[in-house]
Amino acid sequence: ELELSLRPRCLAEYIGQEHVKETLGIFIQAARERGEALDHVLLYGPPGLGKTTLAGIIANELGVQLRVTSGPALERAGDLAAILTNLQPRDVLFIDEIHRLPRQVEEILYPAMEDFVLDIILGKGPGARSIRLDLPPFTLVGATTRAGLLSSPLRDRFGINSRLEFYQVAELEEIIRRAATILQVAIEPEGAREIARRARGTPRVANRLLKRVRDYAEIRAGGVITREVAREALELLQVDAAGLDSSDRRLLLTLIRKFNGGPVGLETLAAAISEEPDTIEDVYEPFLLQMGYLQRTPRGRVATPGAYAHLGIKPEDRLF
Ligand code: ADE
Repeated sequence: ELELSLRPRCLAEYIGQEHVKETLGIFIQAARERGEALDHVLLYGPPGLGKTTLAGIIANELGVQLRVTSGPALERAGDLAAILTNLQPRDVLFIDEIHRLPRQVEEILYPAMEDFVLDIILGKGPGARSIRLDLPPFTLVGATTRAGLLSSPLRDRFGINSRLEFYQVAELEEIIRRAATILQVAIEPEGAREIARRARGTPRVANRLLKRVRDYAEIRAGGVITREVAREALELLQVDAAGLDSSDRRLLLTLIRKFNGGPVGLETLAAAISEEPDTIEDVYEPFLLQMGYLQRTPRGRVATPGAYAHLGIKPEDRLF
């Protein structure tokens, strides 16, 4: 699949996240040379920064199989037990959205992570018995948008903790040029830079914008992504010069116009734009906070002077 082939398969191909790459590289090599399973790895950071990609790279660099699942997909303890008992020694199990594991599943994960054993309870009431199954040593790679969402017993069981950061424009530019080569689309350096600038620090966004700009270049221009072609396409996509899309602008405009710039509580803001509070916190806010357009205060969300300036609204005429 195309989406998969855009993903780098080894650390050497992975652009950016230099600190994560350097540290993981050392830990992977050490585990491999000792013939041991790598310690469990917690990856956290905003969506689209490469957590799933890194899990694939870790397995590949260790020379083992990758099994992929997610917190919400593991509904019962048996769902996780079925996966764990089918692992080969040193395999990598990737659990995305690990903060959404049901409690009963999380509880059987503790002894599995710590001692590679599975405690299974048979029956109910006074006659219930517990049996213990040995598991092959394995590496759990857990991904979450915020480390603070995990219970501390779970967080404490990861020997390796890596926070992914938003990417620099120059790194995104390199990612876009690499993807353009794989997609076989001609792109000028200024075209790549224009897309990179508007990709909100996120490779997933960069690659998505690249594909849409490629469509535009093929249908409306000569097929080559120049700076001008990129600008026209991104304008059509309503992605502005700072990379805000219509959803980001709607959030800020609602905050300014309906709530006088804030402070307003997350739930109230979410209801006003018909979004889930979790989506606001995980998807929209990290980038708006990083850009300095939004602040979180104890009394709620506040639009900054930078947000007013970006949207071309004067603070004195913010109310309708
Ligand atoms: N594609 C998506 N993310 C990437 C990264 N960090 N490096 C290289 N290619 C990518």
